[in-house]
Amino acid sequence: MKSKKIEIAPSILAADFRNLEREVKAAQDSGADRIHCDIMDGNFVPNISFGPIVVEAVKKSVTIPLDVHLMITRPEKCYNEFIDAGADILTFHAEACNDSAALLESIRKRGIKAGITVNPDIPIDLFLPYLDTIDQILIMTVYAGYGGQKFIDEMLSKVERTADCIKKMNHQIDLQVDGGINKETAFLCAQKGVNVFVSGSYIFNAADYRDRILILKQSAESGMNDD
Ligand code: DX5
Ligand code: ZN
Repeated sequence: MKSKKIEIAPSILAADFRNLEREVKAAQDSGADRIHCDIMDGNFVPNISFGPIVVEAVKKSVTIPLDVHLMITRPEKCYNEFIDAGADILTFHAEACNDSAALLESIRKRGIKAGITVNPDIPIDLFLPYLDTIDQILIMTVYAGYGGQKFIDEMLSKVERTADCIKKMNHQIDLQVDGGINKETAFLCAQKGVNVFVSGSYIFNAADYRDRILILKQSAESGMNDD
């Protein structure tokens, strides 16, 4: 299964917020396929990041899709605000949600893609029953909450198991990783079937975003062809 498009999604958590418009435009001009927005509520995760107002500002600055990652307790309470703000793909944590099946359906009913994820210590069984209504599965390769953490190697087997389940489905499900993604880890994840790569510090802490995005794409490409 090598038909899925490789996509790089820079996470703006690592961008310079003094000039967010310039940063997201630079990411887009450097070959990014999506912009990843990390929403942290200070409850599900200790950190607080930003809300729909910032997502709306990013939406006005770029034309590529917005990939919004909700790290929020009870995402069912406020998901609509992020769709109104311009999310094209909305991913929430199954362990933070009371009724994942209902929320996946509600997100899709609004005409955008529905994504689901769990933290590293939570089994994928939590969302496997709902694969029919899932457009994207995010395997967290660090614990949600902060950028700049180290990739957890043990997550590679979780990625592999998830990819096997996705293969059995008739519709396309993007397989995404988030946390500690760089040249080496992108290669390893692509070998296991990942096609969407979120990357914050590896891209935004570099002088040349284009160079880093290209490296990630090339590593992913060679990983995919090496499985
Ligand atoms: C972590 C966030 C990530 C984070 C990735 O909670 O979901 O998107 O910004 O940052 P890096 O690539 O620096 O690990
Ligand atoms: Zn994220």
